Amino acid sequence: MTIQHIRKAVFPVAGLGSRFLPATKAIAKEMLPIVDKPLIQYAVEEAIEAGITDIIFVTGRTKRSIEDHFDKAYELETELEARHKHELLAIARGTSPKGISFGYTRQSEPLGLGHAVLMAKALVGNEPFAVILPDDFIDPAMGKVGCLSEMVAAHRLHGGASVLAVQNVDRSQTGSYGIVSTTELDALNERVTGIVEKPKPEVAPSTLAVVGRYILAPEIFSYIENIKPGAGGELQLTDAIAEMLKNKSVIANRFSGTRYDCGSKLGYLQATVACGLKHPETREAFSAYLKKC
Ligand code: UTP
Repeated sequence: MTIQHIRKAVFPVAGLGSRFLPATKAIAKEMLPIVDKPLIQYAVEEAIEAGITDIIFVTGRTKRSIEDHFDKAYELETELEARHKHELLAIARGTSPKGISFGYTRQSEPLGLGHAVLMAKALVGNEPFAVILPDDFIDPAMGKVGCLSEMVAAHRLHGGASVLAVQNVDRSQTGSYGIVSTTELDALNERVTGIVEKPKPEVAPSTLAVVGRYILAPEIFSYIENIKPGAGGELQLTDAIAEMLKNKSVIANRFSGTRYDCGSKLGYLQATVACGLKHPETREAFSAYLKKC
């Protein structure tokens, strides 16, 4: 059986980002920087590393800055060129690498992650694709590839199965995640036998939580079209996956990197500290500063 190459990644960025108000009143949450790079750029770079060539953003209000970020910035580039700031020019141009296409579609109302993914149906077509939630920032483990690259490897190893990135969470946290039940498959992957959105700790089937990375079969679109609003009155991607796994193979991949929930203030600050301690321009001085704190 030939396994189709994963070419396309969907980035749902139409949420309200209300936990970051007032910062997100006029700009997208995904444009918040970790040190000097917006969250969305880390996510796009992770996708490109995994072989993705077609980036699809599902945008909403206040998201124009994302379109501008991945476009040419004529005035800025002309100015940097005139001032012979070649390194900075390369950084500015580096957001839209050659051979990568950027497509946009809109979700006019934030009706849930499942609904956001459905908005990309026409742009994805009939092929397996990735979904990346940029506010889940996943820092690769030392010497390892990014989370999506690990998932693509799991997808190929397991005959083109859909793949969910999972990590263990404290039982008290299950109400914030999609939680899977699984059977053993191999050292890094488990077969998903059930999935439930935001279960209370006392009824959660496990503590294995789905984080913001998915590789999905195109059939997911018809499952989303047939589900009813679930937790929070939203169309939940988790509910569509629960239906799909009755007929199609879905696996859970334990990725090796560290995940920061940058949709929350605490996760965002933790990611900033982790990256500040690695960034060549800041690591020494920042580390010295933290030791003094
Ligand atoms: P979140 O649950 O973090 O929602 O969505 P949010 O609205 O962005 O943030 P808060 O809770 O108001 O602070 C997870 C991801 O799914 C996208 C978001 O943009 C985010 O990347 N999303 C969510 C959509 O694109 N559309 C939706 O209807 C819901």
